[in-house]
Amino acid sequence: MKTIQAVDLKGKRVWVRVDFNVPLDPEGRITDDARIQAALPTLQYALDQGAKLIIASHLGRPKGRPAPEFSLAPVAERLGALLERRVTMAKDCIGPGAASAVDGMAEGEVVLLENLRYHAGEQKNDPAFAEALAALADVYVNDAFAVCHRAHASVAAITRYAPVSAAGFLLQKELDYFARAMTSPRRPLVAVVGGAKVSSKLAALERMLEKVDRIVIGGAMANTFLKQQGIDIGGSMVENDMLDAAGSVMDACRSKGIDLHLPVDVAAADRFDAGAEMRIVPVDAIPSGWMALDIGPETSQRYADALSSAATVVWNGPMGAFEMAPYSRGTVALAQCVAGLDALTIIGGGDTHAAVHLAGVTNEMSYISTGGGAFLTLLEGRPLPAVEALDEADTNGAR
Ligand code: 3PG
Repeated sequence: MKTIQAVDLKGKRVWVRVDFNVPLDPEGRITDDARIQAALPTLQYALDQGAKLIIASHLGRPKGRPAPEFSLAPVAERLGALLERRVTMAKDCIGPGAASAVDGMAEGEVVLLENLRYHAGEQKNDPAFAEALAALADVYVNDAFAVCHRAHASVAAITRYAPVSAAGFLLQKELDYFARAMTSPRRPLVAVVGGAKVSSKLAALERMLEKVDRIVIGGAMANTFLKQQGIDIGGSMVENDMLDAAGSVMDACRSKGIDLHLPVDVAAADRFDAGAEMRIVPVDAIPSGWMALDIGPETSQRYADALSSAATVVWNGPMGAFEMAPYSRGTVALAQCVAGLDALTIIGGGDTHAAVHLAGVTNEMSYISTGGGAFLTLLEGRPLPAVEALDEADTNGAR
């Protein structure tokens, strides 16, 4: 894979694919600009090298046609403030609406193209659309790790048409940290896996069994493991069709000598509501019809013990319904524990990132991935189509 450092950018139209798929409030204001901040090193570097900077992203899921609520205009404004220079918003990402913004650009100028997903060709990985995108590029740079698990035109097919294709700093950093955590980790390597469903994490769990020394499980997915052990979990969320899969994971842990940690107590509530009646109870004493919405303090202590000697930690998924204050304690305690470790700590997934932010320890993690689906795809050991496209472009040399 060619890197941006290996390419001469001076005076070139450098077309950078970023992931500015940022959350917006109902008024269209950006509520978290972490993904914009994360792309700045690449954008600033290109400008410092004398590039004419053309930036492209998707935002939301506008279904292949223009939709004003998915315009990148608010992002152009924020980006301009962060780069401290004018960012021109193009009306489109291809055709005359893009060309009119890009024509006559000088070195150091910045154009943000309009949402790539205004065109159906983006998600279809359509070659003609990719060629139209590449027509604006002397150099193509992919710095959009969070969308690299999608075989979309602006990250996959485009490398067939761009004269040169390279990885930006963020993409390099994401792959590098992931490799340090999962390919050649310092041990013990502890995985913390949470979130609602075993089904969405099963492939990642199975893959991690080949790598980790310990697994800590929380969130509603823990209920499926507990039920598999014959524990009555009351009215807690459970995936009955995943009981066998959970059993297989537990069997594999036993046979491989991996410590698997499950909750021993929970915060149980009489309904899924912040104002519900709540009690801390052992996992086998959840009142009938009540549901586990967070891990309990005894579990937090045991998880802290399991993590205390870790040299590497990979954490994906919250320990409970942390978005409701009464059920955030376990996730926040875990975040604070991970933050205090003398270990390489890698955080992946939007919810986990939000939880770390809520705990006020964002700056104390070794690395917080900008990817949700892309991070999970790596955890599952599956290739990222966009990274494969960059590798192919490099192997084929001319691109
Ligand atoms: C993300 O937010 O995970 C990426 O931007 C990908 O978005 P998508 O799930 O809509 O493809």
